[in-house]
Amino acid sequence: MVLNMGKKILVTGGTGYIGSHTAVALRQKGHECVIIDNLSNSSAVIPDMIGKITGERPFFEKLDMCDAGKLRHFFQTNRDIEGVIHFAALKAVGESVGFPLKYYRNNLVSLINLLDSMQEFNIPHLVFSSSCTVYGQPDQLPVDESAPVKKAESPYGNTKQISEEIISETACSSALRAISLRYFNPIGAHESGLIGELPLGVPNNLVPFITQTAIGKLPKLRVFGSDYDTPDGTPVRDYIDVNDLAEAHVVAVERLFQGGNEGPYEVFNLGTGKGYTVLETIKTFIEVTGVDFNYEIVGRRPGDVEKVWADTRLANLKLGWRAAKELGEMLVTAWRWEKNLDAGILEKS
Ligand code: UD1
Repeated sequence: MVLNMGKKILVTGGTGYIGSHTAVALRQKGHECVIIDNLSNSSAVIPDMIGKITGERPFFEKLDMCDAGKLRHFFQTNRDIEGVIHFAALKAVGESVGFPLKYYRNNLVSLINLLDSMQEFNIPHLVFSSSCTVYGQPDQLPVDESAPVKKAESPYGNTKQISEEIISETACSSALRAISLRYFNPIGAHESGLIGELPLGVPNNLVPFITQTAIGKLPKLRVFGSDYDTPDGTPVRDYIDVNDLAEAHVVAVERLFQGGNEGPYEVFNLGTGKGYTVLETIKTFIEVTGVDFNYEIVGRRPGDVEKVWADTRLANLKLGWRAAKELGEMLVTAWRWEKNLDAGILEKS
């Protein structure tokens, strides 16, 4: 007989893109998931969608973590939470350049409030949502976790770097045990087609831009630059499936529960280890979906790095985790999700 070792885990930002997939993965591994989210960039129907996939709607509370009093009250009334996976943050790179204080206030104040409450209510386990953006353009590829953190290109990127420092210093001086997961480029959607990425307004990221152009919502994709030192001149990224990413969060939080962590603070890259150019990604999308769309090559986007892909050995070895999905599979689920969105899946639910 398998004993139920499930834990109650708080997922902040759990109605968002990666948070919602992680909520599903947690439930499917026998954990209980509770979600808080201020819904600033997500939909209130996502908990229902998670419920449709897993058979159990997670508890959800609309809450802005910048409100320390409300966050404290949440922990006071949910005493049995044993770990936190913290996604809640603003993430639009371009917007952060225009409104740096909005980004510093939101992303850092919410983190500090969270750490305060976790200390007060003796919750020692934290998994943090970080980004490969901390490496900038790495000097060596694939990039591993020992690569230097480069000066951030944007306030958004800086909030990830500062957050990692805040967490690391807090872990080294308290009972907190934390893992930061540095994602490469998360794409794709749940295979059910019930949850996926929900960009606010015109997307910044490549894959939602592709799917919205393919469905006819946007007239044309602009490919930012074709004069990079890469096989076809367009930038190279390590695209990782959001469900693979979600699995890694479950493994990371379980590592903390089991005391398998080596030291108070650990960092892991989450990528596939394989890089694809923008044009390869476009061609793969057209191949696997059979849907063609307009694109044109324009000038470089300021702040873009030329090429980055992950050295995943640390996560493979220490977490026992490995990304499984191929680029084509990720693009198929992203497309299914876009079609479902277009058919009004969120409004109908
Ligand atoms: C971006 C952020 C990164 C963040 C990540 C989250 C920037 C500079 N970086 O990464 O900090 O952690 O998203 O997912 O914004 N592209 C086009 N046309 C488009 C959109 C993108 O050609 O309309 C190209 C980009 O030039 C890039 C690649 O597609 O080469 C991937 O872009 P994107 O999806 O925005 O991700 P990153 O820029 O890698």
